Amino acid sequence: MKVLVTGGAGYIGSHTCVALLEAGYDVACIDNLDNSSYEAIRRVEELTGKKIPFYEKNILDREALKAVFEAEKPDAVIHFAALKAVGESVAKPLEYYHTNVYGTITLLEVMREEGVKKLVYSSSATVYSSVKEMPVNEESFAYVTTNPYGWTKIMCEQIIRDTAKADPELSAALLRYFNPVGAHPSGRIGEDPAGIPNNLMPYIAQVASGKLQRLSVYGNDYPTRDGTGVRDYIHVCDLADGHVLALGRIAGGKGVYTYNLGSGKGTSVLEMVKAFEEASGRKIPYVIAPRRPGDIAEVFADASLAEKELGFKTKRDVFDMCRDLWNWQSHNPNGYEK
Ligand code: NAD
Ligand code: WQD
Repeated sequence: MKVLVTGGAGYIGSHTCVALLEAGYDVACIDNLDNSSYEAIRRVEELTGKKIPFYEKNILDREALKAVFEAEKPDAVIHFAALKAVGESVAKPLEYYHTNVYGTITLLEVMREEGVKKLVYSSSATVYSSVKEMPVNEESFAYVTTNPYGWTKIMCEQIIRDTAKADPELSAALLRYFNPVGAHPSGRIGEDPAGIPNNLMPYIAQVASGKLQRLSVYGNDYPTRDGTGVRDYIHVCDLADGHVLALGRIAGGKGVYTYNLGSGKGTSVLEMVKAFEEASGRKIPYVIAPRRPGDIAEVFADASLAEKELGFKTKRDVFDMCRDLWNWQSHNPNGYEK
């Protein structure tokens, strides 16, 4: 079975390519390298000993996308390609709606024209940002979010649901990721953010390596156990395995399945700092800073539906996430050096 991976050179895409190839799938990738490097694909090939047909193309270029489908004849698509920075989406809403929403529509149109009926879509826990009750399950969804990026995920989920309603042959999995962190244990692939990282764990890793001076902890007055924000961190390799399980689910089913992919456990910012210090043997200097606008106190998953229906259960804990992140960071201090 062949899977076309959009955004396959990116952080989650590259780890998922490894998991797919190891599970025996054939993989082809399309990525415009807007936020990634071809080196990630080369290293996935090196890790797995398998070749990946790669197309440096924009998914918004419908003719190019169609040509990829015609050359590769995929049986299924995993759609990662998107813009993903929450703050940037507030400053550039049209760019986010254009790439994320129009990109997904273009992909669905080409899939329809080419008769491809299976889709795994990268959604996000950001769709829960207005929910107060924890843990969040798939039904907690409230069609409200706080930023354009989050809206693109809500809109794309709905577009996929409506498309599947109109085409009963289409089968899709909407995967809502919580906070993906860590790297492949080989240290050969990992997250390579451009500029100063927005997210906690890549920021901590760059403090540990001496590229950044100290972490700002955004708020210690939340109603959580130590006052800092609580999130559900998931090792990127567990997340990648979740995609392989989701493909298996839609292979035999019809309609749309929605799953939380998280660990089901909440961990605070200070607990993550401590775990990283233990895993790396480095001290992480930090200061307490004001809350970051738009942040919520805590969010963590009820991950029981994915366990029941996919057999998905995370295997790696926060120590593993920190150890593998540090292994990647310390061996690749400048990422893929684009
Ligand atoms: P990433 O930026 O590392 O990967 C996205 C890839 O898509 C990049 O390689 C980029 O070059 C490519 N891309 C972007 N626009 C494109 C276009 N128009 N045409 C072709 N390729 C394009 O991000 P990631 O962290 O791997 O995220 C992958 C997906 O998962 C995204 O849809 C993101 O919204 C979603 N997601 C990410 C997180 C997270 O915290 N990393 C959490 C929840 C959901
Ligand atoms: C985690 C915690 C911060 C940086 C984002 C997106 C979400 C999803 C995952 C895509 C919070 C605190 C952070 C720092 C800090 N992405 N923090 N100092 O905000 O939970 O989720 O990434 O879909 O949509 O919103 O992740 O890693 O930015 O923050 O104290 O320098 O760390 O306040 O409590 P977040 P994050």
